[in-house]
Amino acid sequence: MTSNIQDFRRPEGGRYVGSAQRRIDGKLKVTGGARYAGEFPAPGLTFGYVICSEIAHGRITRIDTSAAEAVPGVIKVLTHLNRPKVADEDKKYQDQTAPPGSPMRALGDDRIAYSGQPIGLVVAETFELARYAATLVEIEYESWPHKSDLKAERAAAYEPKEKRNGIAPAPPPRGDVDAAFAKAPVRFENEYRVAVEHHNPMEPHATTVIWGDGGKLTVYDKTQGVQNSQNYVTGVFGLNKEDVRVISPFVGGAFGSGLRPQYQLYLAVMAALDLKRSVRVVLTRDQMFTFVHRPDTIQTLALAADRDGKLQGIRHDAVAETSTFEDYQEVVVNWSGLLYDCPNTKLTYELAKMNTYTPGDMRAPGATLGVYALESAMDELAYATGIDPVDLRLKNYAEKDENEGKPFSSKELRACYAKAAERFGWSKRNPEPRSMREGRELIGWGMATGVWEAQMMQTSARAALKADGTLEVATATADIGTGTYTILAQLGADALGVPIEAVTVKIGDSSLPKSPVEGGSWAAASAGTAVQAACYTVREKLFNAARTVEGSPLANFSIDRVVFGNGRIAVDGDPSRSVTLADALAASGQAEISAEETAKPDPETKKKYSGYTHSAIFVEVRIDEELGVIRLTRVVNAVAAGRILNTKTARSQILGGVVFGIGMALHEESLMDKELGRFMNHNIAEYHIPAHADVRDIDVIFVDEHDDKASPIGVKGLGEIGIVGTAAAIANAVYHATGRRIRHLPITIDKVM
Ligand code: MOS
Repeated sequence: MTSNIQDFRRPEGGRYVGSAQRRIDGKLKVTGGARYAGEFPAPGLTFGYVICSEIAHGRITRIDTSAAEAVPGVIKVLTHLNRPKVADEDKKYQDQTAPPGSPMRALGDDRIAYSGQPIGLVVAETFELARYAATLVEIEYESWPHKSDLKAERAAAYEPKEKRNGIAPAPPPRGDVDAAFAKAPVRFENEYRVAVEHHNPMEPHATTVIWGDGGKLTVYDKTQGVQNSQNYVTGVFGLNKEDVRVISPFVGGAFGSGLRPQYQLYLAVMAALDLKRSVRVVLTRDQMFTFVHRPDTIQTLALAADRDGKLQGIRHDAVAETSTFEDYQEVVVNWSGLLYDCPNTKLTYELAKMNTYTPGDMRAPGATLGVYALESAMDELAYATGIDPVDLRLKNYAEKDENEGKPFSSKELRACYAKAAERFGWSKRNPEPRSMREGRELIGWGMATGVWEAQMMQTSARAALKADGTLEVATATADIGTGTYTILAQLGADALGVPIEAVTVKIGDSSLPKSPVEGGSWAAASAGTAVQAACYTVREKLFNAARTVEGSPLANFSIDRVVFGNGRIAVDGDPSRSVTLADALAASGQAEISAEETAKPDPETKKKYSGYTHSAIFVEVRIDEELGVIRLTRVVNAVAAGRILNTKTARSQILGGVVFGIGMALHEESLMDKELGRFMNHNIAEYHIPAHADVRDIDVIFVDEHDDKASPIGVKGLGEIGIVGTAAAIANAVYHATGRRIRHLPITIDKVM
């Protein structure tokens, strides 16, 4: 019976945790049963259409809405001239993920800080009417010179004075990097650039505000954090928490775009309060290119090494774009001091102000860029020293976090290299560029390392078991496609020995127990630990109740001797010495037994250990020598991320991350027209993303990694590690195939030819 023990803390785990489980919300999603923020109905619903600025910098000199307002069915056109005052006019309120600075509030005044800035909202009885009326609004501008070329702004780059909450600044220099470079027999420096990318989740940003009795608002918002959106609405509009409920049961992808409350939320709430009516604002695909994006970043990376490939010095400098009003920051260069053992490092991170919207977090923000540069440079070092790329990485393997001088909570990166190399067949590689071909195709094999933070954040959860054996677990976190619903059901089912079908998971509602935004790959470790803790408390309460049942066979046993399962609590799993859950509940005198718990990271462990996930990624490209067309034919990605709760949804996370990396390496590129200061290809016809034909065989390996420090449930997180390293591996494979080192992503045909 021991295999049936439903205690996750036991090494054999439970029945569900660690197995491949289908998404419990999958059926709703594929049958249209799942409702998204822009789909919730309301009586008398009105529709807002956003008007965006056509200039990048300047002011609005005239705005005439009379023709638009004359259209029957148009209710109101809000602009900076007639918008209601908000409680937070001085913009003191900062949401959970906001960078330092003064946040942009739509329709604030006549000033324009970037092209695409929302400057008006047409509210009408239908979306089509609102969109039509928007074309009738007459706007005149006074244009001022704008900053839209990062290269030109580089000279004015500065180190951010105020650090962004939760973002580690560049670490201080280590050793003497100049001396190391002066002495080293092998040394080089290169510049790396990655195109700006815009988030394009399937679900565009959308908010439906339902005006209820007494002005209470129910807000369906596309967000990664319902309580962050709730706090934003109450903080900015001066409302009470009891009067604003934010709900987001399903999120059609987000990738970081839903971390900050976006302007459609602000505008929809403003209009609803003004009109005392329900309002929906959905952004068009074009308008998805008017806010958050991965920041344009110029990186300079220099390596110094001995002839045998031992690293002696690393310099990594990044200059990243930010807006004129906020200092967005992410961790770009720190990885170069972390990933390899190197005595001398100097890493700097600076910002340059541009007339764009403030960039934001996009899947593995910072690491995606920084590790691309580092892992490309490591490939160059492999060629400069004639050492195999995997051997070079093993030679410089970091046994501890040199940035912080701490051991890792766990690090099975060696096993990642070994398993992925073997599965890929790396030993058959001829390192010579252009040496492998088939017909007119050049074949390239490349590899890279991935690394991302393993974090846990304070999160609360509630669990309730009912007499009919059903369990409800609840916390305000989100499922942005990651599989949160399913892993929470698995954890709950195992903790209380109920079938997964008996578990209801409630998330994405601001009225549920407190959770941070779902991001940073921390949701599984954080919400998972909280749900398990709440379930364990229910388990204890049930056990105690079961002992009070008349003649209870459990009376003389402690909780670790009993097994929860099949509707019973049984000594050693023996049904003849058991109490049914129904009897235990009856003895408690309650209809259900519930508990709420808060899980927090242990501060001592956090102080002592560094927590990171790692990966090794190997890819094959085939390049048509005459046409320059690159096909990515094979990917093997071995990931060490602690305990894997659900091998099926975990694999999906890595697949999605790798596809994101393919887009970054080969397709995605938001092109700035420097004359107009605006992104020109603001649609999916001209902004290319990988299609089915671009994604072939992706093989995901999860390496065994035991970690009892990163989080109490052994989970390190998976949402982001899949993208990190992917682009470098592809660029390295392109070099191997062609002998061309391309340091500016995406690698398009023109760069290969
Ligand atoms: Mo992630 S970029 O924290 O959604």
